[in-house]
Amino acid sequence: MQNKILDFLKRKPDYVSGDQVSHRLGISRQALWKHIQELKDTGYDIVAVPHLGYRLLSCPDRLLPGEISQHLNTRFMGRKIYYFDQVSSTMDMAMGLGLKCAPEGTLVLAEGQAKGRGRLGRAWFSPKYKGLYFSVILRPKILPSQASILTLFSAVSICEAIKEAVGEDAQIKWPNDILIHHRKLGGILTELNAEMDEVRFVVVGIGLNVNNDKKTLCSGAVSLKEKKKENINRVELLKEILRKMEANYLVFKAQGGAPILEKWRDYNITLGKRIKVFSHRRLIEGVAVDIDRDGGLLVRNDSGLTQKVTAGDLSHCR
Ligand code: BTN
Repeated sequence: MQNKILDFLKRKPDYVSGDQVSHRLGISRQALWKHIQELKDTGYDIVAVPHLGYRLLSCPDRLLPGEISQHLNTRFMGRKIYYFDQVSSTMDMAMGLGLKCAPEGTLVLAEGQAKGRGRLGRAWFSPKYKGLYFSVILRPKILPSQASILTLFSAVSICEAIKEAVGEDAQIKWPNDILIHHRKLGGILTELNAEMDEVRFVVVGIGLNVNNDKKTLCSGAVSLKEKKKENINRVELLKEILRKMEANYLVFKAQGGAPILEKWRDYNITLGKRIKVFSHRRLIEGVAVDIDRDGGLLVRNDSGLTQKVTAGDLSHCR
């Protein structure tokens, strides 16, 4: 009901009488008043003026499930939301929910993380109310060796959503970095629950620097706020990412990885570059010549030998 009330108030730039709202939504004036009080407690600035009615002045800068669900228009991505003000890591919560048969598209979202983690055991700094920190549960019918493609499809979806919601061009550095002008804007962590020949479920974790101020960013990092010089609506950005993820995931399920890889090639800045990558304690150096159908990077060394790299810490050589 609170979502319906908000939806109604958002459509009216002026005051709307309590009678009108309660009549349209089929609830009593008393029930309406109670819901309005609860919305105010959540941070919505709603004024009530005798003889005029209610008016919504502003919404809180929070990733509230009610805001995310409104006009999300996805079939399964983000339809079930677990929202936390602070968690250890959304990955742990999502892995736990995955074991309890949470449906595909379940979203675990936090305003802040105490132990946000990145790839290769690194920490992911997750200050409260500044970024986007979330994990999505997927249940694709793929082999564990094909899971890298899910990182790639997520990276493509993020770049598409940033363009659509914020108007910025982001790029992808293989395998999981989202960059703007060579500075890190975000990253993707993909974790599996799998047997040798079957993936039971996958958790895709995404961290993005959105409204982080320059002084709180690590060196070499950037936020959308820093780039745009204005605060970004985190709810709208998250919704767009979920829409793009669903659309790309459906394409992946229907047609396989080829269309995703095509898009990935357009956004990536790794192919064609001379790179160094530490993979399984080995240093591989050469030119990144292509990506294979499972998302592995093909690197040609100076002797002309091409090797496939499936994971690792990659840097572009100058
Ligand atoms: C990386 O660049 O190494 C990946 C970073 C992934 C961070 C996100 S934030 C939401 C989710 N929860 C975590 O603990 N990590 C991922």
